[in-house]
Amino acid sequence: MSIRLPLVVGNWKLNGDRELLTSMVARLKQFDADKVETVICPPYVYLNEDTDGVKKGAQSVSTQDAGAFTGEVAGRMLRDVGCHYVIVGHSERRELFGESDEVVAAKVKATLDAGLIPIICVGETDEERENNQTTERVTQQVKAVLDELPSYSDSLVFAYEPVWAIGTGKTASCEQAEEVHAMIRQVLAGYNQELAETTRILYGGSVKPENSKELFASDNIDGGLIGGASLDVESFATICENAVA
Ligand code: 13P
Repeated sequence: MSIRLPLVVGNWKLNGDRELLTSMVARLKQFDADKVETVICPPYVYLNEDTDGVKKGAQSVSTQDAGAFTGEVAGRMLRDVGCHYVIVGHSERRELFGESDEVVAAKVKATLDAGLIPIICVGETDEERENNQTTERVTQQVKAVLDELPSYSDSLVFAYEPVWAIGTGKTASCEQAEEVHAMIRQVLAGYNQELAETTRILYGGSVKPENSKELFASDNIDGGLIGGASLDVESFATICENAVA
């Protein structure tokens, strides 16, 4: 039995609306929070909605706390509206918005400073996997964050999201995912054994009701970061059910 409570996070990206949030909250409230932790990450504007105890997360955060940074949202503001989590370093942020490993590390720090928990996304591209660079790239991404932290917070979550599996319908096999998750845990152990044992590592990339149970059964997979399937109430609820401890 794992000491890590399963965690399932819905990343809505630029999708969804208030109506979906209302119906999702009503369904997720039915889960026993001692058996699975469920989190919704809608676009920023919906984070101010009352989610009746269902946890909320943001999809990004500013590296800054205040000032002349048009369009940005600070961690303290997310905290103010009741967020618990922030997704940091999603591959879409890295690729489409040019977020480097350094920016990702700064965002993790900003998240922790605001008293929130970062969900740090790492993962290799198709090309990197084909060139056998998966271990090297993922290790580099994990270390880029941990090397910048003054202490090894027990409030970190990692998400392994192979870029080639995001929104493509191509899921990593359980063996492929488990291998990378175990490797990430080993990297964490290089910093601190307790960090390695307590940190939850989620899998993301085309997780669906049909493949989630098998993925979550793997030793080092502690839940999921779900894109497309988190936009359908029953699909997301089934995935959450499949993660129940
Ligand atoms: P999909 O589940 O749509 O592949 O997206 C995964 C993801 O990017 C979650 O952050």
